[in-house]
Amino acid sequence: MYKMKNNYGERIAKAQKVMEREGYSCLILGPSANMYYFTGLKTTPDERLQLVVIPAAGEPAAILPEMYQSKAAEQIAGSFPLLAWADQQDPVDLVKEAVPRKAEGPVAVDDTLWASHLLQIMPVFPEAIFRPASRVVDSLRMFKDEEEIALMARAHAAADRVLERVRQEIRPGMEERELAFFIETAYREEGCDDISFKPIVASGPNSASPHHQTGNRKFQAGDMVVVDCGGLFQGYCSDVTRTFCLGDGDAEIKAVYQAVKEANEAAFQRIGEGYAGEKAGCSGEEADRAAREAITRAGYGPYFIHRTGHGIGLDVHEAPYLVEGNGEKLLPGMVFSIEPGIYLPGRFGVRIEDIVAVTSQGPVRLNRYSRDFLEIQ
Ligand code: CO
Repeated sequence: MYKMKNNYGERIAKAQKVMEREGYSCLILGPSANMYYFTGLKTTPDERLQLVVIPAAGEPAAILPEMYQSKAAEQIAGSFPLLAWADQQDPVDLVKEAVPRKAEGPVAVDDTLWASHLLQIMPVFPEAIFRPASRVVDSLRMFKDEEEIALMARAHAAADRVLERVRQEIRPGMEERELAFFIETAYREEGCDDISFKPIVASGPNSASPHHQTGNRKFQAGDMVVVDCGGLFQGYCSDVTRTFCLGDGDAEIKAVYQAVKEANEAAFQRIGEGYAGEKAGCSGEEADRAAREAITRAGYGPYFIHRTGHGIGLDVHEAPYLVEGNGEKLLPGMVFSIEPGIYLPGRFGVRIEDIVAVTSQGPVRLNRYSRDFLEIQ
């Protein structure tokens, strides 16, 4: 039906099936991973309105500023109409054209569409109820095809090489942001197009903060250093964490490290067991519990202060989540992190994060870097 390269047409058809079943009138995407997933259009959000409208039935349309038209035309290669607007025009008129005439039912709006853009187009749908697009697209994006998993494996092979370079580079006296800059460059040198998020480098007491803002603290002998980083390979993200010990770790550091390592393994094993025999599967919350139980057994339960994992793909964080309350099974095609951690306030933290893809044979780790205690002498 659509002359799309790759499988964009197939993905759109699947989204339309979901929309039809759930009664949505259309799906409105802004510049985002969703837009790329369905159309191949890659654009950066700014104050100018850029949308793709996918109606529940019929052809999609893109509404873009004239100045982005030629690049976008290359990317979509004539697969569907491109409506360009000049700066002196009101793009909302084009949105009216693109929206199906008798649009009834909720409008699914990209979760990350800027509020200013949603407010601009809301008058086009005077009666509509708006819902997050994730309700339509997550059920598709959660299941990666072989090509997507292959790209993510490449992104994670690069992450493994970067971690090895970090191990060789890291030393007392270096600043957190200096190592972060080294990591950014290393990902590009290892074949990635970009980093998938700003590296988290958290040293000494800063490592007790899971999403520490990398700063100018200098590493000291005896520090634990949490390094959480990833690269982008053809749009797909990697995301790995290792914790390095500068010097000899004391008994408590080693006990905490061991507990986190066991928690990582416990969640992985639990998912694997779900695939044995009757293939009943393991849910997101069961995987979370397996990791949490291992940490609780070691006596650090209150210091594991976040969920066990998140899905990953075109976005670093996406469905499914390994968290209490998610009873959905982790099924073949899903790719997510297992990243338990223990954070002792004012002292140190440890996190070990791997990315796991569920295949028809069970879970496999996409990254292979050692999970053993990493002492830097
Ligand atoms: Co992560």
